[in-house]
Amino acid sequence: MTSRVTLPPQPTVPGSQVLAYGAARGDLVVPNEDLIEPINSSDEWIRQRTGIITRTRASTEIGVKDLSLTAAKEAIERSGIELDTLDAIIVSTITFPYQTPSLATLLAGQLGRPDVIAYDISAACAGFAYGIGQADALIRTGSARNVLVIGAEKLSDVVDPTDRSISFLLGDGAGAAIVGPSEEPKIGPTVWGSDGDHWDTIRMTGSLIQFRDGEGPWPTLEQDGRTVFRWAVWHTAKKIREMLEQSALTVEDIDVFVPHQANMRIVDELAKQLGLGEDVVIARDIAETGNTSAASIPLATHRLIEEGAAKSGDVLVQFGFGAGLAYAGQVLILP
Ligand SMILES: CC(C)(COP(=O)(O)OP(=O)(O)OC[C@H]1O[C@@H](n2cnc3c(N)ncnc32)[C@H](O)[C@@H]1OP(=O)(O)O)[C@@H](O)C(=O)NCCC(=O)NCCS
Repeated sequence: MTSRVTLPPQPTVPGSQVLAYGAARGDLVVPNEDLIEPINSSDEWIRQRTGIITRTRASTEIGVKDLSLTAAKEAIERSGIELDTLDAIIVSTITFPYQTPSLATLLAGQLGRPDVIAYDISAACAGFAYGIGQADALIRTGSARNVLVIGAEKLSDVVDPTDRSISFLLGDGAGAAIVGPSEEPKIGPTVWGSDGDHWDTIRMTGSLIQFRDGEGPWPTLEQDGRTVFRWAVWHTAKKIREMLEQSALTVEDIDVFVPHQANMRIVDELAKQLGLGEDVVIARDIAETGNTSAASIPLATHRLIEEGAAKSGDVLVQFGFGAGLAYAGQVLILP
């Protein structure tokens, strides 16, 4: 049916690019020894099974908001954008302690841009790549000029020190990126989705309502570790191949590989399954930072850039996966 009125065509932009990154890790360096007693574990077991030597966690007085602000300010400053050209803030987090309003709106005010598009997304460890996918779409459709994407977590707030399934993996931090327009696409098509049949493979131990009603303790994270491991390795490698195909690239084109820093064994297994060459730079930030969920990909990328291992123009493949089980990834050409 023809409509009574015709709407004008929307402006579009050919592509988008990441302009700069920012990072904030928790101020406390927590070695395995500090966590092993309540879970009857050992430094050796944690190193062998996860590759984690330390994780960074934030002191009580430092919130997910503070980590986000630090990372955001660095990304904005390094990008060189004028603040009044920032049109959107997307924060991926599962640990902002208010269900509403969003952390993104709080940051919008604190960054001096209270009028921007601002919202949080809940996609756990896939969240930063979900955010980049959304930023790319907002920019290409002309809805925003520059977008601030943040992955931020204070997971230590939802850790039970006696939980053997996950407590030793988790750290605190925030990573940020400014995404802006580009004449040539420097962010490839996002491959994303979820597997709702496994929605409770990584989960909270209870709901806030149960906690309110005295029916359970403060909800913390727990997981079926083996199921996650198997799912992450098989499913992720397949999706990464699909992503490369959609970007008209092959494994040989990858310079830098930044999978979610879930676990060093998963990182190694993915590299093996993809058949990455010796010269590919592989992010291994988990060894010192731990698994920081949505923050892990931008933190790992920031480190590689700082260390000079990832360089301007490099082809970077990032892929996040976790609770949901949600996943997302893209190919980026580095700024
Ligand atoms: C969590 C994980 C490290 C556990 O390792 P695993 O090899 O699967 O461990 P299992 O549960 O099979 O247990 C193997 C043994 O280790 C023991 N074990 C389990 N957790 C332990 C812990 N925290 N410390 C010490 N021993 C532990 C078990 O009791 C078992 O002992 P047994 O052989 O004497 O019976 C592993 O499953 C994993 O890395 N999963 C992926 C999780 C992940 O990355 N999640 C984040 C996604 S975002």
